[in-house]
Amino acid sequence: MKPVERLIFALDVPDIKSAESFVNLLAGSVGLFKVGLELFAATGPSVLELIKKAGADFFLDLKLHDIPKTVERAMAVIANSGASLATVHAAGGPAMLEAAAKGAKGKTRVLAVTVLTSQGEEDARAAGAASVSELVVARAIMAQKAGCHGVICSGLEAAKVKAATGPGFLCVCPGIRLDASQGKDDQVRVVTPENAISQGADYIVIGRPIRDAKDPVAAAREIARRMGG
Ligand code: C5P
Repeated sequence: MKPVERLIFALDVPDIKSAESFVNLLAGSVGLFKVGLELFAATGPSVLELIKKAGADFFLDLKLHDIPKTVERAMAVIANSGASLATVHAAGGPAMLEAAAKGAKGKTRVLAVTVLTSQGEEDARAAGAASVSELVVARAIMAQKAGCHGVICSGLEAAKVKAATGPGFLCVCPGIRLDASQGKDDQVRVVTPENAISQGADYIVIGRPIRDAKDPVAAAREIARRMGG
């Protein structure tokens, strides 16, 4: 895969008009568009049609967390929408993760969110784990056993996840910042694009550093360059 194909842009915008202008602007400069809670709540499936019409692929990041049957049925609808990637919360447990994988029917790759990149060591201790990385790896192993295709983790844990699960299990890493001076916003576990890739990330997810850049296309190109091409 070329570096640009590993770059996922988080389309964190409030309405279909802003989504459309970013999709038209960035279609050749990023690998996938990630549709999350804000945009999907605002537009429903129409934004997915818009992305497909632009000839691009999408990641539907709804972070499902419910009883297994509900998750299975929701994931079946997501798979029929043509999503390349979709998320569920690993905290939902093995039965829910198995149901998600079953609902996706091999059409959509299911990623389990291990520990949000906005969380830190105190959150891991509150969940009864010794550290964030211990909790991330334990949840990654659980997700793999349940038939998921990969996890969402930070670049700080990607190498440990790969060591525990093998190279074919996907690591998708948000919490990317171009340098320390850029500010973390609400993220806690942040790394640079080149660090995430060198730690084994298959894809990186970037929102605000591209969305809020003066020139989003130039920012995306610079990130792809730093990812190795
Ligand atoms: O703007 P920023 O680059 O921080 O955006 C990161 C994106 O990745 C957001 O859309 C957020 O919902 C998502 N995400 C995350 N941490 C996770 C899973 C998803 O930040 N564990």
